[in-house]
Amino acid sequence: MENKEIVLSGVRPTGKIHFGNYYGAIRNFVKMQESFDHCFFFIADYHSFTTQKDATLLPQQVRRILATYLACGLDPNKAAIYLQSDIPQIPELYLLLNMISYKGELEKVPTFKEKIRDGKQSVNAGLLTYPTLMAADILIHRSNKVPVGKDQQQHLEMARNLAGRFNHTFGDEFFPEPQAFNFNAELIKIMSLSGDGGKMSKSDDNPNNAIFMDDTDKVMTKKIMKATADSGPTEPNSEKSVPVAGLFELMRCVSAPEVVEEYEKKYNDCSIQYGYFKKQIAEDMVKMVGPIRDKIEELEKDTEYLAKVVKDGKEQALESAEKTMQGVRRLVGLNYF
Ligand code: TYM
Repeated sequence: MENKEIVLSGVRPTGKIHFGNYYGAIRNFVKMQESFDHCFFFIADYHSFTTQKDATLLPQQVRRILATYLACGLDPNKAAIYLQSDIPQIPELYLLLNMISYKGELEKVPTFKEKIRDGKQSVNAGLLTYPTLMAADILIHRSNKVPVGKDQQQHLEMARNLAGRFNHTFGDEFFPEPQAFNFNAELIKIMSLSGDGGKMSKSDDNPNNAIFMDDTDKVMTKKIMKATADSGPTEPNSEKSVPVAGLFELMRCVSAPEVVEEYEKKYNDCSIQYGYFKKQIAEDMVKMVGPIRDKIEELEKDTEYLAKVVKDGKEQALESAEKTMQGVRRLVGLNYF
């Protein structure tokens, strides 16, 4: 039977893709394309301008994300893969949603508050309305399921609020309420290797705090071997410190369950040696990321193929987006004659 639910997600082309992006999001895109008939995966290039305005960097970053999508297993025959900037209906919906987005609620979004706090960039209107553009990305296909990592939870809440407010204001149950999705499991947050409890992030000042999908085996191994731990458990079954809990989480992502169990046991009886523990994580990380990295490099060179993929995806996304906008224009009264 056809699965009518609509799946959508995207990645912003700022900086390099890291293991958190892969494990928290892209890996799920790949799984979802197998069981959902309507999947849309895009590159949020307009979003990149909220924080980065380097015209020479963008094309290369966009191609890299596209190559990463494909290297991780996204299949253009199973999902529409496209660029945000190829779909003019997205900024059109964004404009209309901005009319029902309140300054107060936008200012309360934690990611906006963080950006202000770290003071690294100017606070532009695009940054404030980032969640509105993200809601437009989601609602343009009337999507229900949005595979994302834990850091996007608040943005999804904003998208739900805007969908509900639109329905309420214009008198119809037009938009479904989109939900963050991770196969009935909690949304994922991969920790920074710094052990400070923060997430692995593209914008971290220290590149050693993240495993990037284009790191060589040697670089990945070095980063993990140098990751912050602690001085080791001194009492059986003691609670794990933040950095060590983060390393165990990482191990759970890349290693076999019995390997994790073995190290949990060693931690609990205080016989764990972090050197071996990290070496095991590094080995398994290399096994998981290495083949994807090699494929990214190969695909990135095939610009003709990359261009074809987004051209096909654009056609599918345009058709769906225009269908939604016809409904939106009718509901808001933009139909005069
Ligand atoms: P972006 O580009 O920051 O991240 C892409 C995806 O990776 C996830 N992610 C993580 N997951 C687990 N652990 C981490 N440390 C980690 N870091 C990042 C993110 O949750 C995300 O799923 N706003 C979005 C892009 C976007 C979007 C959308 C997503 C624009 N419009 C519509 C979904 C639907 C972003 O900046 O993701």
